[in-house]
Amino acid sequence: MNCYDAPVLGIETSCDETSCAVLNGTTVLSNVVSSQAALHEKWGGVVPEAAARAHVESILPVVDEAIKIANVGTPGAIAVTNRPGLVGALSVGVTAAKALSMAWQIPLIGVHHLEGHVMSTSLAGHSPPYPHLCVIVSGGHTELILVSKSCEYKQIGGTIDDAAGEAFDKGARLLGLGYPGGQAVQEMARSGDPNRYDLPRALKSKPYDFSFSGLKTAVLRLVEREGKAINVSDLAASLQEAIVDVLVEKSTRAAEDTSAKAIALVGGVAANERLRKQMKAAAERIGVGFFAPPLQFCTDNAAMIALAGSVRLAQGERDGFELEVSANERFADPIDAGALRDTSF
Ligand code: KG4
Ligand code: ZN
Repeated sequence: MNCYDAPVLGIETSCDETSCAVLNGTTVLSNVVSSQAALHEKWGGVVPEAAARAHVESILPVVDEAIKIANVGTPGAIAVTNRPGLVGALSVGVTAAKALSMAWQIPLIGVHHLEGHVMSTSLAGHSPPYPHLCVIVSGGHTELILVSKSCEYKQIGGTIDDAAGEAFDKGARLLGLGYPGGQAVQEMARSGDPNRYDLPRALKSKPYDFSFSGLKTAVLRLVEREGKAINVSDLAASLQEAIVDVLVEKSTRAAEDTSAKAIALVGGVAANERLRKQMKAAAERIGVGFFAPPLQFCTDNAAMIALAGSVRLAQGERDGFELEVSANERFADPIDAGALRDTSF
């Protein structure tokens, strides 16, 4: 992996984590994450106004701490998430990044949040070979991306409604497990029977796309129908299994159809033990490698943003102070799924 030849400061404020990190090559010198989960829990989801305000309060202390822990003095460049995400939240990180870039007279680069997730596997020190299929599963995104070489991406498929993380979060809410729900569902599922409740595995007709909203409705109906008779552990296990099954089945098919050499599993939901285990087993079954970042780099963090920025800076890319934020920006152009099986990559 070709990185910038000086320490890079990463800043991430796209949703509900204020994070700053310093990276030297792929080595993480510091990665400070200030989570707003407790703040948003009472509303059962992220409130954009509250998120932006909390970023304003945390950004400078978090930058300070990351710089102190790294202990390498002034960084050589700054990478900041500028798209996609909550506009108010993104603006806090981008404004801080511009000010620091101006004060320290160092280069600035804006990073697509999903490129950060895609590169996060390399923070463990080993990168997946090309071409590989990157399965991005987070609270806001579910995408199958073919990475043909460094910074070259094609979208193979994605969700047509809820993201995989949303399916965990909405399911957790219906089961009274709090927010964010992925981790809570995982813990509750440990003692549950994944075959107890029959939940839908949707969108069988579309090989590489996902739909998770029917799953939420099915859980809602069950909870309404059975009330207190519901076994929460069994339902958590059944919900987790339904999400994992579909992700594993479609990802392995996409990996086979694109002749990918490896599957990389990234994003907050990649922290799910059952998903990691089943995806790894499936990758072994089809004879390809399996890569996933260490748990602290699955959920949002600035180390992955610093890495993506570092790779782009090493290619000579730079942004000016006119760098803007954007709420929605497609990460990769779609590939024609119908042509997949006939195409050689
Ligand atoms: O990547 P991320 O931190 O933020 C986005 O970019 O969206 O992902 C957050 C998502 C949440 O939906 C959360 O419930 C889910 O990741 N998550 C998990 C686990 N840990 C976090 N889902 C399933 N199992 C987990 N252990
Ligand atoms: Zn994310």
